[in-house]
Amino acid sequence: MKLLMLFLSLPAFAQSFPKGFQWCVATAGHQVEGDNVHSDWWAFEQIPGAIKNGERSGKASFHMDRVREDVKLMKDLGVKTYRFSIEWSRLEPREGEFDTKAFDYYAEELRLLKEAGIAPMVTIHHFVQPQWFSASGGWNREDAPDVFLRYVTKLEERFGPRVGYWVTFNEPTVLLIGGYGEGFFPPAQKNWKLWKPAIQILKAHAKAYRHLHAKAKERGQTIKVGLAHHLRPISSNQFLLKRPVAYADSILNWSLPLALKTGVLKAFQKKELLGLGWPWPARIELPEIKGTQDFLGINYYTREDIRVQLKKPHLARDPFPGLEASELNWGLDPEGFFEVFKQAKAHFPDMPYFVTENGLADAKDRWRGRYLISHVKQIHRAITELGANVEGYCHWSLLDNFEWHEGFWPRFGLFEVDYAGGGTRKARPSAEVARRIFKSNSISSF
Ligand code: BGC
Repeated sequence: MKLLMLFLSLPAFAQSFPKGFQWCVATAGHQVEGDNVHSDWWAFEQIPGAIKNGERSGKASFHMDRVREDVKLMKDLGVKTYRFSIEWSRLEPREGEFDTKAFDYYAEELRLLKEAGIAPMVTIHHFVQPQWFSASGGWNREDAPDVFLRYVTKLEERFGPRVGYWVTFNEPTVLLIGGYGEGFFPPAQKNWKLWKPAIQILKAHAKAYRHLHAKAKERGQTIKVGLAHHLRPISSNQFLLKRPVAYADSILNWSLPLALKTGVLKAFQKKELLGLGWPWPARIELPEIKGTQDFLGINYYTREDIRVQLKKPHLARDPFPGLEASELNWGLDPEGFFEVFKQAKAHFPDMPYFVTENGLADAKDRWRGRYLISHVKQIHRAITELGANVEGYCHWSLLDNFEWHEGFWPRFGLFEVDYAGGGTRKARPSAEVARRIFKSNSISSF
């Protein structure tokens, strides 16, 4: 009888996640809080044409007004960790001047989370800078890493004892391409001079890493510090593009994470030759950043393909014909998620991974439930088949929010936000799917 019971419970057991697995939802300050008036994004939103339909973040998802309610929503969902970002421009609205009230707000948010039994994962920088920082050169400033460290020191002083997971930067490659390449983010410098800001960001991260660890050590506290990297398999169905695929993969996905492992940043620099600017392989030694990553934060949404059209080769997120896509036309591709884990295993075999974002734009909730299940299954596969040490999974997002240059139309929330109605929240059916997974720590019932 006992044997039979064991046998019957095996499939369920096989779909369970390790004890202590961190089920999580993620948001970012500027996208949900509202009134982020001292930020460079706020200024950028005033420029005609910068944001689709001329929208502005305004009250965003009214999170500051509804923080209690949001913590309750998370508790009811069975969330163990909440990943959110603290807004630099609120805390330091003018260079060197810190706003005590803003600190109090985040202290209260951390208190509410503690009361609800939810661990915080704090993102220090999620795409947004104070206006004074950007106006004075931003990530091209010579002293940018020290300016960042001054802010982190203040953060740590007030919040350090309550935070176990820090994400210094969210998606540095997206920040660099958006801000200094394609220009869809501030400071909208479309000159593709990414080298200097990339180095400054890496150095800023390393300084923050060392400071956070030094202080935690003084207190006898264990913390983990990492970044959230935008990772996606890059492929092409054209054989001739094998090399460009490999370059794109190494630069877009792995050059920054690997630089933190090796202390060497490998990428491309423009070189003038025969009157033309050519991409030239380059490497720079940055010994001070070596070994400054405790976990690999993985943001995965979809795969990307290199396609050649008459105009120019480009990276495409839209799926090949016949495959399903979200409302942003990003292909739904759980297999791609598994590929990311395989690559992560090859580059960082012994490092813990944390899925810091995964989700889709789906206002009518047509796919979100299935998306959630199918992607969580791939994590289970990565744990069981690859022996990956995955510590947690954050769904992007708890709420509909301000989707950067796209404005408000893409809806990523497990909870729908009624923007016109003061931010009332309404659970989408997929929130129930999340609740079942989070509370049972398994996907057995699907
Ligand atoms: C970013 C989020 C964003 C999400 C969906 C990620 O790249 O970290 O801020 O909302 O993707 O586009």
